[in-house]
Amino acid sequence: MRSLGGYLELQLSKGEEFYPSLLKLNTGRNAFEYILKVRRYRLVHVPYYTCEVILEPLKRLGIPFQYYTIDEHMDPVLDFEVGPEECLLYTNYFGLKQETVTRLTAQFQNLIIDNSQAFFSPPLEGPDTFYSCRKFFGVPDGAYLQTNSPLRLKMEKDVSFERFSHLIRSIDLGIEMGYEDFINNNVVLSNNPIKRMSSLSQKILSGIDYKVCRYRRNSNFMYLHDFLEAHNDYTFDASLINGPMVYPLLTSSLSLKKKLLDKHIYVATYWPNVLEWTTKMMYEHYLTSHLIALPIDHRYTHADMKRILNVLKTVL
Ligand SMILES: Cc1ncc(COP(=O)(O)O)c(C=O)c1O
Repeated sequence: MRSLGGYLELQLSKGEEFYPSLLKLNTGRNAFEYILKVRRYRLVHVPYYTCEVILEPLKRLGIPFQYYTIDEHMDPVLDFEVGPEECLLYTNYFGLKQETVTRLTAQFQNLIIDNSQAFFSPPLEGPDTFYSCRKFFGVPDGAYLQTNSPLRLKMEKDVSFERFSHLIRSIDLGIEMGYEDFINNNVVLSNNPIKRMSSLSQKILSGIDYKVCRYRRNSNFMYLHDFLEAHNDYTFDASLINGPMVYPLLTSSLSLKKKLLDKHIYVATYWPNVLEWTTKMMYEHYLTSHLIALPIDHRYTHADMKRILNVLKTVL
């Protein structure tokens, strides 16, 4: 029975989730595990260029995997076969690879698309596709999954208030003061069982103005691209952007990150584990050490993008 009265709760806007009809799970890696459990693949082809947490479910389920390389367009180098009991895992890098996803969908039956970096890229008919919400919005966790498999796993609902502190601490004390909590809350996301999305994450995700968020991302991205295209060694078709995660700037300069950091512009490294998985001769190694992931999200306007460009212009 729903209780009435008592104290007032944190008030969040009521609206609709972006993917109301997809399965709602607790984390991206667990959505991947869900797919592996229902599909029972015997071998998974995993890109060298991805986050190490992707290996958690493979190790937990004891499923063998093989790494594959990507080319300078971040497309898979398909010099291997994907057998009938195997599958190909591909990451929609930075939300800029929907064309490749479409091509792979036509080519492969057993395909898993990791859209953790591509929240706004819609799932295609066919491949199993998962999303991680915390890369795009201020939620402690949450994931969406599209799968055509008729099998359904029974799961408890997750509870995520204990992983929430960085999201509220930063409002009161600033983003730097929430960083330690963010790191700790990241750590506790590891090795959790597959659960349904928590009510807390779902409620926050139901109150977001997705149209505005996507618009700001596209607009900020293009603002940077107008200047940076001429300096960017990573080439892509910017006419197809759809709320990308970050602006990926690839240059040979190794001093850019430090320059940005000095001006309190924080850029994450995608992904430190790749430096351990690859040799210095490999493209993935170069990408990890040289690609600068510039923030373009809904918090920012063109004035913020201009600040980023002013720092970059001192080096480029
Ligand atoms: C490419 C990629 N896939 C999947 C994940 C896992 O998402 P989650 O943290 O929601 O499990 C991450 C990062 O954590 C990621 O960077």
